[in-house]
Amino acid sequence: MNKAPKVAIVGATGAVGVEILSCLETRNFPLSSLKLLASARSAGKQVAFRGEMITVEELTENSFNDVDIALFSAGGGISLKYAPIAAAAGCVVVDNSSAFRQDPDVPLVVPEINPEAAFNHPRNIIANPNCTTIITLMALFPLHEQFGLKTVIASSYQAVSGSGQQGIAELESQVRSIVDGHPVEKKVYAHQIAFNLIPQIDAFTDTGYTKEELKMLNEGRKILSLPELKVTCTCVRVPVYRSHSISVTAQFEKPISVEEAQKAFDGKPGVELMDDPANIVWPTPLDSTNGDTCYVGRMRKDLAIDNALTLWVVGDQVRKGAALNAVQIAELLISR
Ligand code: A2P
Repeated sequence: MNKAPKVAIVGATGAVGVEILSCLETRNFPLSSLKLLASARSAGKQVAFRGEMITVEELTENSFNDVDIALFSAGGGISLKYAPIAAAAGCVVVDNSSAFRQDPDVPLVVPEINPEAAFNHPRNIIANPNCTTIITLMALFPLHEQFGLKTVIASSYQAVSGSGQQGIAELESQVRSIVDGHPVEKKVYAHQIAFNLIPQIDAFTDTGYTKEELKMLNEGRKILSLPELKVTCTCVRVPVYRSHSISVTAQFEKPISVEEAQKAFDGKPGVELMDDPANIVWPTPLDSTNGDTCYVGRMRKDLAIDNALTLWVVGDQVRKGAALNAVQIAELLISR
């Protein structure tokens, strides 16, 4: 692309769409026009961007005729229907849903890890990985580069923003109801999320794992080009607004010490160590909220497994886990 692209955001009024808009603005993404697409419910709404008001339009099959890059974040059903339409109109789609992630002709990209993959997109679709996978791999990739990742055992603590604006609203309304002594209303989650944990994200599969957990199992293999990588994970929804946290035990091919592991993070973009337990320094979800950086702490030699470390990583699910990663992919596309 040799001139500033025409860009569209599909799902521009959603939790991730709003953040995509903010990333385009704050990162001075060079674009010649911006189209904001959502459902008929939002058509006509005015949204500010770079000092101007843009009118939200209803998504239709004709929305992409004059668009070069479309950033999709309106759910898998919308992506399955409209991403191929956009791609056929000559637009490159960066899709935040899971609809195309395992398609061999659709690259799955974390720009700090496998940027080259973004340039081979035969279907004109590039997939943005699952938020928990991105944040986990931001911590593991610097270590993998030097020590060779073999096995990952993880538990995630995932914020309600992962369920979109509705998830955030449900947590807020339940907290208010409980504090005011009223019964809680459950719409998004089958169980109360306020002051509780829900050890199920997305539907269960025949394996006993949820779909969310299988994303963690499969997506890391594709992004790292490690088809034999062994991953197991339990994904848990927690009453946190935006940032996900993951407790990870990672086993490597080579012996690894904490000191060597700490050095591996020197100069790595997008990830920082926050690891001084003696001074009560380790990252909490609030530390990464509204920021671009993933933070790693509690890094220690695992006492149960050979050549393994156990660590804790946090990252803003809406930003690096979704919007920022998608905008970084778009930046890669215009860099050539
Ligand atoms: P709308 O706000 O008009 O419903 P979230 O993940 O935060 O719930 O956001 C979902 C995003 O996807 C919103 O921007 C929402 O628009 C959009 N969306 C939902 N259904 C459709 C649809 N049928 N067509 C286009 N956009 C949709």
